[in-house]
Amino acid sequence: MSAAQPLLALQNLTKYFPAGGLRLPWTQPDWVKAVDDVSVSIPAGQTLGLVGESGCGKTTITRLILRLVQPTAGEILFEGRDVFELRGKDLLHYRQAVQAVFQDPFSSLSPRMRVGDIIAEPFTVHTNASHQTTIDRVAEALELVGLSPAHAKRFPHEFSGGQRQRIAIARAIATSARLIVLDEPVSALDVSIRAQIMTLLEDLQRQLGVSYLFIGHDLATVTHISQRIAVMYLGKIVEEAGADELTAAPLHPYTRALFAAALPADPDDQHEDLVVSGSVPSALNPPSGCYFHPRCPFAMPRCSAERPLLKAVSATRQVACHLY
Ligand SMILES: Nc1ncnc2c1ncn2[C@@H]1O[C@H](COP(=O)(O)OP(=O)(O)OP(=O)(O)O)[C@@H](O)[C@H]1O
Ligand code: SF4
Ligand SMILES: [Mg+2]
Repeated sequence: MSAAQPLLALQNLTKYFPAGGLRLPWTQPDWVKAVDDVSVSIPAGQTLGLVGESGCGKTTITRLILRLVQPTAGEILFEGRDVFELRGKDLLHYRQAVQAVFQDPFSSLSPRMRVGDIIAEPFTVHTNASHQTTIDRVAEALELVGLSPAHAKRFPHEFSGGQRQRIAIARAIATSARLIVLDEPVSALDVSIRAQIMTLLEDLQRQLGVSYLFIGHDLATVTHISQRIAVMYLGKIVEEAGADELTAAPLHPYTRALFAAALPADPDDQHEDLVVSGSVPSALNPPSGCYFHPRCPFAMPRCSAERPLLKAVSATRQVACHLY
């Protein structure tokens, strides 16, 4: 892998689902444009944050990366290779290298399996490791996430939500994952536990050099852990920038509204009070032109007629908005 090549790259990635409901055989299906022409990349050892409201397509991206669904169009490249073309040993290598941790630590761990078996499972499926190597690997993973090797004997119901999320992280790192997709990993946890899990994730990244795709809707959490951030709205990336420059000056009106909603109001702040009003339009019948125009305080006549393309506004930043 060359230095310039990202670990993972989504290229024009698109996923349309046929809409549910009664459909007669001769009618064309309507499509839910869950992910629409998304291009982002993640360098080795770094974190890309992905933020957006519920239903904007974040988990569909997770499922595409895990190859649980096929794309309608576009590609996912891992170390430069199209992951949907991988077969045999190469596919096993990919499944081992790319792991995920989901939001709900209560449904993501099988209640009938012991913790040790849960952690060993992806590792033993993908390698022909010996008995002792497996025991050692499980013990090492448990210690890395701040649990004890003795916990391997227990069942998930014996643990708190935060501890269960540590078990899910241990399962991901036991395979020596290169990329972990973290799909809202702290959203279901008590506020007091969230910071501990975030610190653990940062420590593990420093120790292991693993890359993260960190998905969330809480901008403060996402910007804290990420080097770069992609902001999604109705299946499309509307802004992509370094986390620091995005925090210092969000450009897209939707990003600005997300920040306004995330940060406590400062009485001395002279910035206009931007709050996203209205509900998210449906991905089934998105608005004309800019998808954000029905909710945008800056909307101009052009915005309902012409869809803005994601354009570079500097060497490190892209925005899809007619204001730029
Ligand atoms: N299998 C499916 N069939 C039909 N539509 C789907 C399917 N999976 C997802 N969708 C639709 O695709 C869109 C994106 O869903 P997705 O779960 O990716 O959103 P999300 O950003 O993860 O939301 P949340 O923040 O609530 O987790 C939604 O409109 C959803 O209803
Ligand atoms: S293109 Fe127009 S409607 Fe869309 S975000 Fe920009 S100003 Fe608002
Ligand atoms: Mg989701």
